[in-house]
This record gives sequence, structure tokens and C-alpha cells, in this order.
Amino acid sequence: MTHRHLDCKQFQKATSIFFGIYEAVPRGFGNIKPGCRLWLRTHCVYFSFFSNDVKPMNLISNTAVTKPVIWPVIAIDGPTASGKGTVAQRVAHALGFHYLDSGSLYRLAALAAVRQGVPLTDDKTVAEMSRHLDIRFVGEKILLAGQDVSDDIRSEAAGQNASIVAALPQVREALLDRQRAFRESPGLVCDGRDMGSVIFPDAALKIFLTASVEARAERRTKQLKQKGMSAIIDDVVKELRIRDERDINRPVAPLKRLHDAQLLDTTEISADEAVASILDWYSKTPKSSVGV
Ligand code: CDP
Repeated sequence: MTHRHLDCKQFQKATSIFFGIYEAVPRGFGNIKPGCRLWLRTHCVYFSFFSNDVKPMNLISNTAVTKPVIWPVIAIDGPTASGKGTVAQRVAHALGFHYLDSGSLYRLAALAAVRQGVPLTDDKTVAEMSRHLDIRFVGEKILLAGQDVSDDIRSEAAGQNASIVAALPQVREALLDRQRAFRESPGLVCDGRDMGSVIFPDAALKIFLTASVEARAERRTKQLKQKGMSAIIDDVVKELRIRDERDINRPVAPLKRLHDAQLLDTTEISADEAVASILDWYSKTPKSSVGV
């Protein structure tokens, strides 16, 4: 027999199966001998756990014993260079939550397409590639097929390419599950364009984070220069406008402020102030809508 290592989810599943059966066996099979009961408990647990599609059930009422646990999500959407990434990472750090930079996935899909000579508008092929991309997030670094591409995907050209592939419906579909898989214990902070509308519509807190185009261009120029890339503010303004236009007007998952999203304009405030506002809103989020 081969031995399996349990990951966290499997462990939760095994324990809930165990306690469901532990509860059920004495009541449902009350007249059997204690030795047989023990045998039954042990073997029910064994077979339930090792058959993958068996869910923990209460054998008496035939209903699920455990309520599905849905970890809370804070969804931060907004236009390019509004400071989403910085703010989202700090909020995640403050709460001890996971962090998803969804834009990086579109940037990686575009980079992979460019490297393989696939036209950025070829929805089917780029979608197929996106589904199988070998991506690893290692600390601050992002690896594509084992190669560090953290800087390559951060250029303005990579952002423009990302927004071209991000307008393709099959590519968006191909990246859905990958994004949702980031929702893990104890919670997730994510940023992008459709976090609150498509990926996590049940997010506990939705934020629309924005700033004037001038403030955004200034920040982006500074960011690029810090990375040793050349940037002229007037060109950056033009590029931001093109990207905004494409992200807002595309038919699939367009960038928009949702009616249930808090508006956070960071033109005049610092990243720390933005983080403080989000933490304050989150602390006031009713427990029932936090999802656990
Ligand atoms: O950091 P910045 O806001 O400039 O860009 P990003 O978040 O890395 O996203 C790059 C591009 O990917 C955006 O211009 C969007 O077109 C696209 N994107 C998207 O469509 N949906 C997302 N959830 C995230 C990014």
C-alpha cells in the first residue's frame, strides 16, 4: 500500500468525516456490539477518506455535517497606477491574509504569447497557453517556467500587452480557477479590474481605488525610474489613457465602480492613509458578510 501525505484541506476533510461518522455510528447502529462498532467506525473513515468524491455526511439525516467555509475576501479594483498593488499588499500584511496580484497573470500570459510568437489577439491559443502556464510566486519574485520574469512583466509595454490579452473572453475564462484558488485560510486581499464583479462577487469588502490621471502618471513614472527604466511623464499619461480606455470599454469584465464598492480616491492621500481606511471599513464589516 502506498502512503499519502495529507495537506491542510485533506486533513480538514478527514477530521470532519471522522467526527461525522463518530457521531453517527453509535446513534444509527446503536444495537451492534462495541467491537463491531469500532471496526465500522474505522473502516467508514478509511473508505470515505480515500474515495475522493465522498463528502463528510451525517449518516442519520444524510446532510452535510460541516458548513462550507468561505474565507473572507477584500477585493480592490481600480485603474492602472492608482496604487492598488501597494495598498492591497499592505492590507494583506496587516491582516495576515494572502495576496493576489491578478494583473500579473495577464502580464504573464501576454509575455508568454510574445515569447512564443503567438499574436496577442488570438484568443483560443493564448487561452490554451494561459491554462497551462507554469507560474510560481516565490517571495517578491515571479517565475515563468522556472525563469525570473519579475522585471520583464513590469514594463509599460508589458502592461499594454496585458490589457490586450485581458480583453479576450477565453483568456479570462482560462484564468478564473487559478485566481479563485488563492482564496485560502485565513483570507485574501486581491487587486485587479474584476475582483469584485466576476472573480469574487461575494467579497466581504469591495473597494474601487482610483486617483486623477496626473497623480497616477506621476506615480508610475517614479516607479519606472526606480526600476531603472526610462519614462517621460507626458508619454506615461498617454499610455495610461489608452489602457484606461481599453479596460473600461471592453465587453468582458470591464473596469467599473460597482454599486456595493467603497470609493477610495488616493489623489490627495498617502498609501498609509488608504490602508487605514480599508482596515477601518473591514473592521466594521458585519461578521455574517465576512463569510466564516
Ligand atoms: O498595475 P497596473 O494597474 O498598471 O496593471 P495590472 O493590474 O498589472 O494589470 C495589467 C492589465 O491587465 C490591465 O491594464 C488590465 O487590462 C488587465 N487586468 C484585467 O483585465 N483584469 C484584472 N483583474 C487585472 C488586470
